[in-house]
Amino acid sequence: MGRPAGTRRLVTAIGPALAPAAEPRAALMAPPSEPVLEFRNMRVVYDNAIEAVRDVSLAVPERGVVALLGSNGAGKSTLLKAMSGLLYTEEGVLENGSVLFRGEEVHRLSPDELVRRGIVQVPEGRRVFVALTVDENLQMGGFAKPQAAARRKLDQVFSLFPRLAERRGQIAGYMSGGEQQMLAIGRALMSEPVVLALDEPSLGLAPLVIDRIYEVIARLRDEFALTVLLVEQNAHRALGIADYGYILENGRIVLDGPAADLMGSEDVREFYLGVSKEGAKSLRDVKHYKRRKRWLS
Ligand SMILES: Nc1ncnc2c1ncn2[C@@H]1O[C@H](COP(=O)(O)OP(=O)(O)OP(=O)(O)O)[C@@H](O)[C@H]1O
Ligand SMILES: [Mg+2]
Repeated sequence: MGRPAGTRRLVTAIGPALAPAAEPRAALMAPPSEPVLEFRNMRVVYDNAIEAVRDVSLAVPERGVVALLGSNGAGKSTLLKAMSGLLYTEEGVLENGSVLFRGEEVHRLSPDELVRRGIVQVPEGRRVFVALTVDENLQMGGFAKPQAAARRKLDQVFSLFPRLAERRGQIAGYMSGGEQQMLAIGRALMSEPVVLALDEPSLGLAPLVIDRIYEVIARLRDEFALTVLLVEQNAHRALGIADYGYILENGRIVLDGPAADLMGSEDVREFYLGVSKEGAKSLRDVKHYKRRKRWLS
């Protein structure tokens, strides 16, 4: 069975990196395991007309954090929706390709079944049940679990987010953006994910709150053995924690590699981090640059 291009690049990119010249974080860790999640040659079309994603392949190794980066409309959320079985809610269809979980095709399964298997998404925009309390939101996340297991999970979520424990009885809609993001992640954790996909968890949050969210992502990998697919426009944050990254542009992967390599790449630095050889650029320069630059040109 052939591997997708992304996986091939993951293996080959880590090999030479063992030389002392460049030491991406992935090379300093244990050898990459078989991917727990794979997208193969995916093509997604909305409304029979709009091709949102074209021939996208990527691989997420077990207990790894993989960043999926790209600007507005690149197709990031579309890929996550395809993974979670949610495309149909928006007239989207996976026309080609497959999603594999532990080597098994899962893209025809229902959203419920995908969650039961451990593929869980925190959608963009922190969708919590605004009229329910923190406790009730979390209970919704653990509804399919036996009571004792749900109680254990609840304790775990409160240990990760003490703020949520303090505000158990609070109506979610009245909480801050950061607290709602924590609640959305907490609710996803209640269903005991194996793979957790986070869609722009830092969007619109203050830097200190983002620090807190990213500390939790690191703990989820290190202490809870989760595999994380992290969708972000915030390339700096995402590459700071990820082992490996993919850059999506106009529905196609245009670049992938170990996170440290991407962080050092001149294109990524200019395009996503707003930094060039001459130092930091103003946002105006970067916007101008973004208009000019086309990855595929
Ligand atoms: N429900 C939909 N119907 C039609 N087109 C859609 C739909 N959802 C997304 N698209 C289109 O598909 C493309 C990819 O959108 P997607 O939301 O996946 O991008 P994204 O990378 O998540 O962007 P953002 O960073 O803004 O969230 C865009 O051109 C978008 O306009
Ligand atoms: Mg999106």
